Amino acid sequence: MYNLKIIIASTRPGRKGPALANWIFDVAKNHNEFSVELLDLAELNLPFLDEPSHTRLQKYTKEHTKKWSATIAAADAFIFVTPEYNYGYPASLKNALDFLFNEWAYKAVAFVSYGGIAGGTRCMQALKQVLTALNMVPV
Ligand SMILES: Cc1cc2nc3c(=O)[nH]c(=O)nc-3n(C[C@H](O)[C@H](O)[C@H](O)COP(=O)(O)O)c2cc1C
Repeated sequence: MYNLKIIIASTRPGRKGPALANWIFDVAKNHNEFSVELLDLAELNLPFLDEPSHTRLQKYTKEHTKKWSATIAAADAFIFVTPEYNYGYPASLKNALDFLFNEWAYKAVAFVSYGGIAGGTRCMQALKQVLTALNMVPV
């Protein structure tokens, strides 16, 4: 079984993210080829990047980074559930991505994007550029 992590990017009080994430979580579970886990960046509550070394070196000094590293290393693929904020994606997601490097690499990532009239298209475009820098494979 493939290990799929669904990540809720928004952290705003009253956010819509969990409703969408719960929907795709059920769809993914019913697919039966994935072991699925839902990760909520609001619950994870990572601080802004506070590691002194480049994350490629994996010289993690903080417990929250070691835990996040183990969680992401265990995954084969991801679905990011992300809203569009000001033509981009939430800072919470960029920060969570920047915490790690190797753990994301060569893994497939799909999207459930949402927002106003463009349905989150622009946030996805902005996000794809960053994900390819991490050697991820957007699908
Ligand atoms: C700070 C902020 C900026 C937003 N910017 C955009 C935008 O550029 N394009 C868009 O289509 N929707 C935009 N929206 C609408 C959101 O995508 C929409 O409210 C969505 O539900 C937000 O996700 P959330 O409820 O999970 O926080 C913005 C909302 C907020 C709060």
